[in-house]
Amino acid sequence: MSLSVDTVDIKNKIEDCKTFQEVESIRLDYLGKKGFIPLEMKLLGKLPIDQKKTRGQELNTLKNFIEENINDQKSYIENKELEKKLKNETVDVSLPHNESLNGKIHPISQTIFTIIEIFGSLNYSVEAGPDIENDFNNFSALNIPPHHPAREMQDTFYVNNMNEEDSVLRTHTSPVQVRTMMSSKPPIKIIVPGRTYRSDSDSTHTPMFHQVEGLVVNKDATMADLKSTLIYFLKEFFEIDNLKYRFRPSYFPFTEPSAEMDVAYTKKNNVLKIGEGDDWLEILGCGMVNPKVLENCNIDSSIYQGFAFGMGIERLSMLKYGITDMRGLFDLNLKWLDHYGFSPLDLKTRSEV
Ligand code: PHE
Repeated sequence: MSLSVDTVDIKNKIEDCKTFQEVESIRLDYLGKKGFIPLEMKLLGKLPIDQKKTRGQELNTLKNFIEENINDQKSYIENKELEKKLKNETVDVSLPHNESLNGKIHPISQTIFTIIEIFGSLNYSVEAGPDIENDFNNFSALNIPPHHPAREMQDTFYVNNMNEEDSVLRTHTSPVQVRTMMSSKPPIKIIVPGRTYRSDSDSTHTPMFHQVEGLVVNKDATMADLKSTLIYFLKEFFEIDNLKYRFRPSYFPFTEPSAEMDVAYTKKNNVLKIGEGDDWLEILGCGMVNPKVLENCNIDSSIYQGFAFGMGIERLSMLKYGITDMRGLFDLNLKWLDHYGFSPLDLKTRSEV
């Protein structure tokens, strides 16, 4: 006695289904708790032993057959629906261009592009690091030991974490100096544009801001190389050939000697003119990499030396584009962005390029 079912008929029934619900109802008919197969299985117990085995095998084969067909039909329906959806979602590329829908490049992004372009032309490569740093990279390796007063020069945001080691939102891009020196061998020639954080907020400070770090390590980098690099950069950046600038001695634990660079400016009718005049604006910090920092990063300071610099991208951006309140940069005001932003189609970062 064999099962009185027509497999071709079942297959056809399944293949006729157009929706998941239809497939599901067939599944319930055959495989559901009260469906055909489970009921037949229950009857097995009443059969004589020799028939039990063959009937059991038949039922299993049938069950697999139905399952397979149901799964095939389900993926078929799924593909069909996806196809339909994709067809409905096609983009009409012939839509006319609408000026008012144009997005703008933020001045900070534009400034970063310009910085990368200028240092790129000097063969610097671009590095990055995480915003959340460990204490070693942000402070200790840079010759700022625990309780050193220099830690108070930067109002640090501490991050609670489960690890024993303290984490901070990096207060400068200098920890990427450490990361790079630890992970690669000199010669090193990098810039690091990125976000930095300090607990400070007024018209010239925001708790999140951007810096660009520079680091050169080789056998013969000098302070003269550092100065000429920075002078070249600022002249290119501000597009002023006879830019008036000065270097002042300064102090950073990670550079020795250290300096700060100022550019001259004048203010006429509330408009800032950069590059000339008798007032000075501090623009960056720099110096020769302190040999202690090289040693902390496993670089032999009797063979290698280097220079580093760091500058605030907001300040560069505000000076170049005449932005007076720093907070405007992060207000997310579309009118502001429309005024100060750059067209994504205008690839020029400087006028002569
Ligand atoms: N990290 C310093 C700051 O944030 C800037 C700096 C970088 C100074 C590299 C010297 C060398 O103020």
